Amino acid sequence: MATTAPVLPAFEIDEARLSRELAELATMTSVEPSAVGTAVTRVVFTSDDHTARAWLKGLADEEGFSVRADAVGNTFFRWEGADPKLAAIASGSHVDAIPHAGMYDGTVGVLGGLEAMRALKAAGLKPLRSIELVLLTSEEPTRFGIGCLGSRLIAGVLDAARADSLPDLMPKAEVGATLATVRAEAGFCGPLESCRLEAGHYAGWVELHIEQGPLLEREGMPLGIVTSIAAPAGYRFTIEGVGGHAGALLMPDRRDALCAASEVILSIERHTLAANAASGTNDTVATVGTCDVHPGAVNSVPSRVTLQLDIRDTDPERRESVMQSVRADIDGISERRAVTIKEEFVNADAPATSGAGIVQAIEEACAAEKIVAKKMVSRAYHDSSFMARIAPVAMIFIPSRNGVSHRPDEYSSPESIALGTRILALTLAKLASA
Ligand code: GLV
Ligand code: MN
Ligand code: MN
Ligand code: MN
Repeated sequence: MATTAPVLPAFEIDEARLSRELAELATMTSVEPSAVGTAVTRVVFTSDDHTARAWLKGLADEEGFSVRADAVGNTFFRWEGADPKLAAIASGSHVDAIPHAGMYDGTVGVLGGLEAMRALKAAGLKPLRSIELVLLTSEEPTRFGIGCLGSRLIAGVLDAARADSLPDLMPKAEVGATLATVRAEAGFCGPLESCRLEAGHYAGWVELHIEQGPLLEREGMPLGIVTSIAAPAGYRFTIEGVGGHAGALLMPDRRDALCAASEVILSIERHTLAANAASGTNDTVATVGTCDVHPGAVNSVPSRVTLQLDIRDTDPERRESVMQSVRADIDGISERRAVTIKEEFVNADAPATSGAGIVQAIEEACAAEKIVAKKMVSRAYHDSSFMARIAPVAMIFIPSRNGVSHRPDEYSSPESIALGTRILALTLAKLASA
């Protein structure tokens, strides 16, 4: 470790350039414009995702940052420090977007990270440690059913063979397509084990992200500092009943899979509400966000339904006890309705805790800018949850208008994005100096 820290030169975040680039990235989407905002759909390894990746690489090339991609497409833009052998400081996020999303989730962390590095470089900073911007693959679970795919593989918390066999859930996916075939077609080859980075590979990780909730705006706070990230879990349920003609199959003879699925969904809601009532918090949240009905015809009784459940809590034991109650209901539903209900485990992760040193560096950056940031829990999950397995992490949150996210009317102001980017730059400069 070096003994002399470089002096931080005055630097400027180019707010106009950042806004322009966020708007440009938002054009790389496969949905039509929305009346209420900018609708973005950019699913991993689709042509829009490839366009975005190539465009970002071009921006990094212009700055002279080196580029490396791993076997799942995580992409590392590196600004070499004075001592390249020291563990780098990293920042990053994602550019994939769920169907009909907004334009700020993830993108602010990627373009803000790039802007922070460019601003420091333009000002003449010579960081001691290298600084890396990491574009993480498939933070969103849309295509492969599990979120934070790239960061899970970096952290070694997802078995490589299991990852490669994850089915492609795109509506028009080729029969038998999996992550293995889709990533190969996208040009990302090699064993997924090679994505793994050892603990200590990075000296620190800082992710800039929009809050996606209402607290900062409600409390009039300019920024947030994330001290922990709630624990997410995912499950899939397949309900098999018996189909038939919507006119001829009489009601007493029905074993309708969708009616059974509806009971499952309402059981999940009921037990989640009960958990909140018992804890006196709103910390347990559960969502059934997809429901595939087979055969999907108005005049055909549903014979098979697949549901995807996303359930999160700050307390993983409470999350599990909600699941236990739902399972007890499922036994009753399947018996009463003469259907089978199969549960598949997708993931159940622990909460992540920020590193005290990274939180302190962000607080010092805020103090230098004479702002007070709110320390808070992130209820959305982020790649930082998994980067925390290999490095001390923290996140900087930017207020979200009306707390809205995963919707086209998601919005954060250019000023608050620039402020978050400035704090990120100060934090990276500080962490990279020692
Ligand atoms: C990530 O997008 C999440 O669902 O928290
Ligand atoms: Mn998201
Ligand atoms: Mn995100
Ligand atoms: Mn997220």
